Amino acid sequence: MTLDPTYDFYAPIGVFDSGLGGLTVVSQMIRLLPQERILFVADQAHVPYGGRDLSEVREFACGISEGLLKAGCKAIVMACNISSATALQEVRADHPDSLILGVIEPGARAAARTTVNGRIGILATAGTVHSAAYTRTLHALDPQLFVQEVACPEFVPLVEADAMETPDAVRAAEKYLAPLLATGTDTVVLGCTHYPFLLPVLRKIAPHLCFVNPAEQTVVELAHEVAVRRIAARSSEPDSVCLATTGDPTHFALQLRRFLPDASHRVRIATARWNAADLTISDHNGQNDDPKRRHTVSV
Ligand code: DGL
Repeated sequence: MTLDPTYDFYAPIGVFDSGLGGLTVVSQMIRLLPQERILFVADQAHVPYGGRDLSEVREFACGISEGLLKAGCKAIVMACNISSATALQEVRADHPDSLILGVIEPGARAAARTTVNGRIGILATAGTVHSAAYTRTLHALDPQLFVQEVACPEFVPLVEADAMETPDAVRAAEKYLAPLLATGTDTVVLGCTHYPFLLPVLRKIAPHLCFVNPAEQTVVELAHEVAVRRIAARSSEPDSVCLATTGDPTHFALQLRRFLPDASHRVRIATARWNAADLTISDHNGQNDDPKRRHTVSV
């Protein structure tokens, strides 16, 4: 690894997802851990992950995690359920001393606490449903829970296209909620980090259900771990947020205005180039970019 000494994401918390969904975790981090630097990679060159072979997703998630760790991240948050389902154990085993969090365990803990009638529904991508990771994790917490997982292949493309409040989104949401409503579910886990962006539509269709956004509990647990391990940033000032995409950074910058509107003053857009365990981040702030801040990490 070569690390440019001027590289100013010296000890960020690395976060990644296939795309915009990870911003639901980043926004919680900005709220609860404002003093932490964040380096987020949206692997939009490969979105959606959900319909891919699980071994391919594991390869992506392990590669990005390795790249973020080699780039100096002090902790990793897999802000992606399917990555958490396929790669979390492997990355933890390879880095036993590092703080590596996924979203499934915190999401399951929050759901088990929330349900009153013990009937939990999971809305997730086909790959996450296929992995049965939520059912396993919930049954480890309480074997009596009734868990029903529903694959929602139309949701991620709708979010990436900023089509969350269209008739297509309403139709898809009605279709995916129907089996959960039929079995008396009282708690629904948004088992893909893209799905909280669909909450207005989901709540309109099923206002009596409790929707669990795993990003919230994940960041509560992250804050706790960072404090316990004494790796929290020492400054009390808000630190920078670097949002890097493997896709088109110009399009990504436009998407961010809508998907992360409150944090624009702290955010820098970057390009991520990633290949196997090689991750290169270069700043990309368009015309306003300060050349002195343009730097590359080669891993
Ligand atoms: N947001 C991701 C998740 O939580 C993956 C979505 C996708 O790319 O299919 O599973």
